[in-house]
Amino acid sequence: SAYEAGEHESFMRKEILEQPTSSQAVLRGRLDERFGTAHLGGLDMDARDLRAVRRVKILGCGSAYYVGQMGAALIEELARIPADAEAASEFRYRDPVIEPDTLYVAVSQSGETIDTLLAVQEVRRKGGRCVGLVNVVGSAIARECDGGIYLHAGPEVAVASTKALTNMFLGFALLALQLGRTRDLSIADGKRLVAGLERLPAQIEEVLAGEADLVEVAHQLAEARSLFFIGRVRGFPVAREGAQKFKEISYRHAEAYQTSELKHGPLALIDPEVPTVALVPRDELTERNIGALHEIDARQGPLVVITHAEVDLGEVRARRIDVPRNEPELDPILLTIPLQLLAYHAAQHLGHDIDKPRNLAKSVTVE
Ligand code: G6P
Repeated sequence: SAYEAGEHESFMRKEILEQPTSSQAVLRGRLDERFGTAHLGGLDMDARDLRAVRRVKILGCGSAYYVGQMGAALIEELARIPADAEAASEFRYRDPVIEPDTLYVAVSQSGETIDTLLAVQEVRRKGGRCVGLVNVVGSAIARECDGGIYLHAGPEVAVASTKALTNMFLGFALLALQLGRTRDLSIADGKRLVAGLERLPAQIEEVLAGEADLVEVAHQLAEARSLFFIGRVRGFPVAREGAQKFKEISYRHAEAYQTSELKHGPLALIDPEVPTVALVPRDELTERNIGALHEIDARQGPLVVITHAEVDLGEVRARRIDVPRNEPELDPILLTIPLQLLAYHAAQHLGHDIDKPRNLAKSVTVE
């Protein structure tokens, strides 16, 4: 075929390494430095339509659902519109109330996932407006939506989504920025985020340049039968996505938890056999996060901490992985990149078929 893994051992690794370039494609022509906003012609919504949005509901499955949670956080933070994500596979089964002033957003790499497609149809059947964040042009979900944002990540072959997920996050950032700037987000904040988005592709490249340092820790994690991924607020969907990726291709039990909930249950499982991958960005929760790391360390739980160079972990025994800082709202995507590499190298160490994990399909097109 015209699209082959080439010199890479797998499509997943090829797609991971493409991200500095593929991430530029979703931003191209959509950023407005002068007014600190985004232009999303495909949305087919004018300023009045955008201002009429009172709530945002994001619908997707698997990784698209987890990145939807990151997107909801971006929209709520930047546009101050209540937003949440829901598994599209559950949505229509609870006879959801569809509101005219809610913007529904379907997110899908393939644009063919049946659960997401049926969720879109449910929204539209009940008179709601649904836009798409879709990678594959002309796919079923893209056609079913009222408009949307194409992700331009290029073809993604590996079942575990990497470059498409990154572009989903960036698509949400653009949407949040545009919604924000039609409301109270200041031009200064808008410009700060536009500049942050422009810096991101090079920062992704920086994270990828550190790949060699992650290989050994990935091999250690591969030996564990069970592991935790933890994060708080912006970091929690990152933890969910990290656990998802790890379990999909390594077949290890990986569970995501809010760091704050550790003491309300999972701490009982922490021992030298159960490693934890913790997201600890430099933000308003850093000190609290470090407090939780102490709790894990005190029980000899092995720790891998994805963090920023400025964060001082003090006495905590941990293998740390530093990522570059962007604007705090955009940091989640940089924290996600090392988790792709950890999952990849763990699965490779175990000798698994990385691109086609057992029991899974790239897109699930039957119910
Ligand atoms: C399948 C894949 C997942 C993917 C999900 C959603 O379950 O195994 O990796 O995240 O579908 O796919 P979509 O194409 O809708 O993003």
